[in-house]
Amino acid sequence: MRSVVVLISGRGSNLQALLDAGLPVSAVISNLPGAAGLAIAAKHGVPSRVVSHKDFASREAFDDALAKEIDRYSPRLVALAGFMRVLTPGFVQRYRDRMLNIHPSLLPAFPGLNTHQRALAEGVKLHGCSVHFVTADLDHGPIVAQAAIPVRREDTAASLALRVLKQEHVIYPRAVRWFLDGKLVIESGTVSVKGNDAQLVFDDSP
Ligand code: GAR
Repeated sequence: MRSVVVLISGRGSNLQALLDAGLPVSAVISNLPGAAGLAIAAKHGVPSRVVSHKDFASREAFDDALAKEIDRYSPRLVALAGFMRVLTPGFVQRYRDRMLNIHPSLLPAFPGLNTHQRALAEGVKLHGCSVHFVTADLDHGPIVAQAAIPVRREDTAASLALRVLKQEHVIYPRAVRWFLDGKLVIESGTVSVKGNDAQLVFDDSP
């Protein structure tokens, strides 16, 4: 059964990772017509749609149109993969406990933009990425999986972004698979994985 709808705004490397993992992606929706990820969908024969936020007068109207497109596919899961829009509480509620996001920091540190730059500026010694269930707070919600990398003296925002992205491509497909296999349990705002799979990946490869 094809059962994940992926929302993107840009490059689509996480979308690519989900497809490479053989996950059942039924559609890709972008808010930007020029998103490079749309070509990735086409290459894999996955239907794609553009719902441009510029065509709507309010966030609510955009989110309603987006939900209508998503629901055409009756997905079990909505996966945000570099989808750079703030979502309304109504939209978040509609997909409550069945919408995941990947974010390039060890949440709850550094929600929002420029995470690698901010991690360097704070002098953190560990950085990484997180997959979490989406709540109404931006880049916030029950954490499913994280990957950590050490920050090196010579690191730049670009070098960190590269090593973190590599880990995003490891943990996002893993988390989506867990969800589809019914292994994720949310209790009191925290997530556990049935069968006790490792929810932390630590990478210090060159
Ligand atoms: C990824 O690094 C993802 O973690 C980030 O956008 C990038 C999208 O890359 N998402 C966020 O910052 C969400 N707040 P991609 O289009 O190549 O997957």
